[in-house]
Amino acid sequence: MAATQTNNQRSIERTHLSENNASSDEVSRELIEGLQRTHKFINPKFFYDAHGSTLFEQITTLPEYYPTRTELALLSMHNNEIADCIGQKQVLIEPGAGSCSKVRRLLPSLQPRCFIPIDISAEFLTSSANQLQQTFPNVDVRPIAGDMSCNYDMPDKYKFLRKTVFYPGSTIGNYEPEEALEFLKHVHGQVGSNGGLLIGVDLQKDRDVLHQAYNDTQGVTALFNINILNHCNQLIDTNFDVSCFEHVAFYNAQACRIEMHLESLADQTVNVGDEIVFIAEGERIHTEHSYKYTLETFTRMAEDAGFKAVKHWVDGAGLFSLQYFTAI
Ligand code: AVI
Repeated sequence: MAATQTNNQRSIERTHLSENNASSDEVSRELIEGLQRTHKFINPKFFYDAHGSTLFEQITTLPEYYPTRTELALLSMHNNEIADCIGQKQVLIEPGAGSCSKVRRLLPSLQPRCFIPIDISAEFLTSSANQLQQTFPNVDVRPIAGDMSCNYDMPDKYKFLRKTVFYPGSTIGNYEPEEALEFLKHVHGQVGSNGGLLIGVDLQKDRDVLHQAYNDTQGVTALFNINILNHCNQLIDTNFDVSCFEHVAFYNAQACRIEMHLESLADQTVNVGDEIVFIAEGERIHTEHSYKYTLETFTRMAEDAGFKAVKHWVDGAGLFSLQYFTAI
């Protein structure tokens, strides 16, 4: 990975971007294994092909989908206070950075020496990192193509600076609680003791508000869910007929999570790897869990991963939280 100076502005060269992607064999194995289970499953990371990413961007602007606008408002409203907590001139790392749109609200007050956005989509990341570099020439932007938990080498000159991971969007809610704990432990290892974590966490609330957020009237979330089957058809040798499935999303209050599934509208067979898999009418493929926490339940999990709660920010309606922890 390297960056070159062009017209006094740093431009990130695609060829120098650190690559850290899973091989296509691993991807096929993972998808096939999930679809051959008794309770069929597709990992939600497969939502995000180019079309899925566009649909997700649309979801974030829907009137029913409160998380994105609420988190952006919290970042704008409290950015100075957040910078006071975290401190300036350090290394900021954002797993799953995508368009880098949220960090833009933090950089003017936070002024890190270096910003490391990480994302599996190398092309998208290069373009958003380049744009960010041009807006913030004093921040060394060093993108890494890889998944959320990839390991990478910190440039020598930044090794001794304090590190903070920024993980907005409540993506943590898409992990099973044990995976979330493992992820937080991984982050703890990345930032080291005295490092920080600023994380966006969606909160438990009225079930109707949650239901509407995942069952929008325009049907964008349904298209997003169903598109995962198109993505499978491209990645492996499946032949899903997307018109034979229906989007199902509901709040499971006992487990404190939204569940998303694709329900088969008929008895059907699908080629999966070397097998033909039968899917009965009414049978569901599980595609996503979106866990909702309270401030207390999330703090407890972060503490179990070795963090100490420092401060949190919540909107007036109690919908969404930004939480800041330091590693002990
Ligand atoms: C990315 N993630 C935090 C979203 C969520 O709310 O769990 C994904 C999503 N699924 C349906 N709508 C949005």
